Amino acid sequence: MSGHGAPIPMTSRKGPTLKGVANVPGDKSISHRSLILGALSVGETRIVGLLEGQDVLDTGKAMQAFGAEVNDHGGGEWSVHGVGVGGFSEPESVIDCGNSGTGVRLIMGAMATSPITATFTGDASLNGRPMGRVTDPLALFGTQAYGRQGGRLPMTLVGAKEPVPARYTTPVPSAQVKSAVLLAGLNAPGQTVVIEKEATRDHSERMLAGFGAEISVETTPEGRVITLTGQPELRPQHIVVPRDPSSAAFPVCAALLVEGSDVLVPNIGLNPTRAGLFYTLQEMGADLTFENPREEGGEPVADLRAKFSPDMQGIEVPPERAASMIDEYPVLSVVAAFAKGQTIMRGVKELRVKESDRIDAMAVGLRAAGVTVDEGEDWWIVEGRGFGDVPGGVTVESRLDHRIAMSFLVFGLATNKPITVDDAGPIATSFPIFETLMAELGASITRSNV
Ligand code: S3P
Repeated sequence: MSGHGAPIPMTSRKGPTLKGVANVPGDKSISHRSLILGALSVGETRIVGLLEGQDVLDTGKAMQAFGAEVNDHGGGEWSVHGVGVGGFSEPESVIDCGNSGTGVRLIMGAMATSPITATFTGDASLNGRPMGRVTDPLALFGTQAYGRQGGRLPMTLVGAKEPVPARYTTPVPSAQVKSAVLLAGLNAPGQTVVIEKEATRDHSERMLAGFGAEISVETTPEGRVITLTGQPELRPQHIVVPRDPSSAAFPVCAALLVEGSDVLVPNIGLNPTRAGLFYTLQEMGADLTFENPREEGGEPVADLRAKFSPDMQGIEVPPERAASMIDEYPVLSVVAAFAKGQTIMRGVKELRVKESDRIDAMAVGLRAAGVTVDEGEDWWIVEGRGFGDVPGGVTVESRLDHRIAMSFLVFGLATNKPITVDDAGPIATSFPIFETLMAELGASITRSNV
């Protein structure tokens, strides 16, 4: 079931080569942060290229509920009239973050140090995900949280009336946890410090600096030490959201797997904290090149060109790369099914607490389609069958998880028999134009009845 309507079953099958240009939407992580930091600034932030996926729209609605003015000017251009750090007002009703873990965790952080109370909920997927990882560090500021068993939503947060700054070492590699603590630190006097042993995506650090916060990052033997000075006046910004490498992954991997394909995916951010999949694919022997490499807004950017690659080899993905491609393991497992030999993925426990248990969701579907998958709590191994030798011919569950739905639809473009996904509705959370974009490239993905 989709969280936002009736299920939309879709089927993908082998078809013509994929050709053309895939203009994927704006980056989801940066889009959430643009709205939230815009709401915490005084004055008008302009955002160009905002991802208009349901996750981000839900964050926009939440910012309105906390008192900011959020306007859609059409064509991906939005504005936010912020209320300033500490300026959030108490929402009149429950904040529904839909499917978005990033949305709810960042917003919890942003309101945690204001003297207001807010209740959060989401869809069945989000209400099953752990929030203690965020509410534990927020308690250090003086924030109280009352949720369901296991720290699940729906949950009420009572913001700290007299917040104190916090020093926190993240126990799991999570940009959401790091960002929640930093956003809470904005309205606490003094210095808030977050230490992460492994580097996770650093958009919050970069954007907080861009909005005028005093923030420094030091690499020490303890890990990355991020120090934020509280109670800054954030200055509104003009943000051009780069295109999402996590969305680019789908047309890129589809092109690698469909005979004769040649697809250009322009303007993709290659921030080292996000680009792990592309380097992994290259190591597997994919015909994937970075054209026109350049810097934009302080970030490395390139146009990705992906061509049919029938001779890829399985590899062992270095565990220290996991954080830089954490959302891309499902589609990597699809590519791995068509490579020769094993693809070994270790240090990926976090995959079990995403929109679904992504190791289980992929393993069940891949096995049903004839691929051998072995797994443990924090690792999995896909036995590649080689190009042209993956049976398919099954219906799989997307489990309210956009990336599971898109991964299996890419899978079906190269299996011998079609793959049906029971509900492609969740794709709208992050990649609302997936269906049309893939159709324009020539992919055989159609709506179906199950
Ligand atoms: C995100 C962080 C990651 C990622 C998610 C987006 C972010 O989650 O999976 O899609 O924007 O901060 P974790 O922080 O839980 O690893």
